[in-house]
Amino acid sequence: MAKIKTTFYCQNCGAQYSQWMGKCKACNEWNTIVEEVVSRTKKERAWSKETSQRANKALNIQEISLENEPRINTGDKELNRVLGGGIVPGSLILLGGEPGIGKSTLLLQVALCIKHKVLYVTGEESDKQIRMRSERLGLTESNCHILTETNTQNIFQQVVAVQPELLVVDSIQTLQTNIIDSSPGSVSQIRECTTELIKFAKESGTPVLLIGHINKDGHIAGPKILEHMVDVVLQFEGDRNHVYRILRANKNRYGSTAELGIYEMQSDGLREVSNPSEILISQKDEALSGVAISATIEGVRPLMIETQALVSSAVYGTPQRSATGFDLRRLSMLLAVLEKRCGFKLGAKDVFLNITGGIKVDDPAIDLGVVCAILSSNVDMAIDDKSCFAAEVGLSGEIRPVNRCEQRIHEAEKLGFERIFISKYNKVNPQGYDIKVITLGKMEEVFRALFAS
Ligand code: TYD
Ligand code: MG
Repeated sequence: MAKIKTTFYCQNCGAQYSQWMGKCKACNEWNTIVEEVVSRTKKERAWSKETSQRANKALNIQEISLENEPRINTGDKELNRVLGGGIVPGSLILLGGEPGIGKSTLLLQVALCIKHKVLYVTGEESDKQIRMRSERLGLTESNCHILTETNTQNIFQQVVAVQPELLVVDSIQTLQTNIIDSSPGSVSQIRECTTELIKFAKESGTPVLLIGHINKDGHIAGPKILEHMVDVVLQFEGDRNHVYRILRANKNRYGSTAELGIYEMQSDGLREVSNPSEILISQKDEALSGVAISATIEGVRPLMIETQALVSSAVYGTPQRSATGFDLRRLSMLLAVLEKRCGFKLGAKDVFLNITGGIKVDDPAIDLGVVCAILSSNVDMAIDDKSCFAAEVGLSGEIRPVNRCEQRIHEAEKLGFERIFISKYNKVNPQGYDIKVITLGKMEEVFRALFAS
C-alpha cells in the first residue's frame, strides 16, 4: 500500500513543518499545528485551461492598452463605494466577518439585485434555505442560479453550464478540491481552492465573491497568504445585538481602503444607511448627564458619535473600568489625565464607557468627547445637547489638534449643533461658520468652558 503523504500546517498562519511541534515558530501560537494529508492524486486541477501553452509576452508599459472594462455595478451603493466604484472584472473579493453578522445575507442580496447572471454556490445552506431567505428579503424575481456544492470540480462544471457573469461562493472553508486529500477548511485545501478560483477569475474575467470565516482573533481563518492572494479583502463588522453593520476594505487593489459602508440589519435584510450621523445619536426628551457627542471621521466619512459614561463609587476595593467600542487602555490614560489635571478623584470610582450603536471607534478625535462624558457623569451635570467635540487629549493634558477639522465642523453644522469644542492649535477660522467654534488649549479649561456658560 502506498504511504500516505502528510505535512504539518499551522492553522493560524499556514506555516508548513515536517513534524509536529507544540508552538508555531512563525506566529508563536501554541497548539495550532495539525497534520494534514496532502498526497496529490494525479487528477487535473479543477480549472485548467491550457494555461501552460499560453505564455505571456513582456510588454512596454506604454503599449498596455487601457481599454477599461467598466466596473460592474452591484446595485448596492455602500458596497460600490467600499469597492471603489463597483466590481472589477476578473477580481477575487474576500468577505470576512463573525458568524451571524450577515455575510450570507449581504452577498445573497447582491446576487439577487445585480443586473447580471449570477451563480451563487453555497456549501453552508441548502437551496431551500436560500429560497426561504430570498423570500424573506422580498427578492424572488432575479437571474440568480443557486448551487449547493462543495467540490470545486463539480462547481466548475456548473460554471461552464450556466456561464455566470459573477460567481459567489459561501464559504471558502467548505470548499474541497479533488487534487488534495485533506479535509475541507484545512490550510492546504483553502490554499488549493483559492488558487483554482483565482485562475478561473483571471482567465475568464468573471469576478468571484468569496465568504471567509474568521478565527477567534478576528482574522480570516486559514493561511495568511489567502489575504495576499485575493484582490480585495472586505471586513463586515458590528455588534450582533445591534442593528448597525460596517463594511470596510482592509485591502483593495482597485481603490482606497479608507471608504466605509454602513448598513442596518432589518427583518427584511440589510438596508443601506446614507445618513449615519442622524441615526447614531439617540433621541432624548431631556439632556442627560454622562452623554457627549463627538465629531469623528471613519475612513473618509464624518460621523457624529454618542459616548455615554457612568461614574459611580466603587463597590469593591479595586474600581472597575469597562469600555465598549473604545480602547480600555486609552480610557485608563484619559482617567489618569483627568485625575492629574482636573483634580477629580476618579481613582476610587467605577467608570463605564459605552459608544452607542455598537460600533468601535479608533479615531483619536473622540478623546475630548469621552473626557467630557466622564466629567459630566462625575458631577452629574448634563452637557447641553447642542454641543459636540472633536479633539485629542495628550498625556500632559493638552488638547491636541485633529485632522480634517473643517469637515467635522461642517458635519456638526449640518446636523444642527450650535457649539463645537476643538483644539486651539487647529488652524481654522472660528468666524467662518454659523456654528460657534470654541477653542481649548488645556484640560484645565474644559470644565469651565462646559458648565460656566
Ligand atoms: P447570515 O447572513 O446568515 O450571517 P453569516 O452568513 O455572516 O453567518 O445572517 C444571519 C443573521 O441575520 C441572523 O441572526 C438573522 C439576521 N437576519 C435578519 O435580521 N434579517 C434578515 O432579513 C436576514 C436574512 C437575516
Ligand atoms: Mg453564512
